[in-house]
Amino acid sequence: MSPRLILAATAAATILLGLAPSALAEDPNDVLPDGPGKDVVVRACTGCHEAFQISEKPRAPIEWEMTIGKMVDNGAELTPQENDIVYAYLLKHFGKPAAGDAAPPVPKAAAPPSR
Ligand code: HEC
Repeated sequence: MSPRLILAATAAATILLGLAPSALAEDPNDVLPDGPGKDVVVRACTGCHEAFQISEKPRAPIEWEMTIGKMVDNGAELTPQENDIVYAYLLKHFGKPAAGDAAPPVPKAAAPPSR
């Protein structure tokens, strides 16, 4: 490669790298609120499906417990300690009262516009 070609290739790479951040601005994990445990959830829970799968529906404590267990069966890698961290995070941000608790129903999120 001539020095000129290398220069041109470097310039092209620089332009491409410069464009990358805006192309990635739409981070599907933005639906996960910041807080302790988010890093574990992002690592262990967003490899197979988007975080929206997690955030779309509030679940009762027992439902999260079972869902996490099911995901571990699916192949999610969690140490026992991480299991607790993920459980606490999900319950805090996407929890709902256990069935039987006298609480008003969680309002349904607005349906996305159909096209
Ligand atoms: C190895 C791949 C994999 C990993 C890792 C994974 N999931 Fe899943 N997840 C799936 C698959 C496959 C489905 C759909 C089938 C099912 O429900 O098991 C799913 C479905 C879900 C659903 C919807 C299930 C339902 O019953 O409505 C939730 C909620 C969910 N995952 C949460 C999580 C959480 C939280 C984690 C991290 C602890 C996680 N997932 C990690 C593969 C994975």
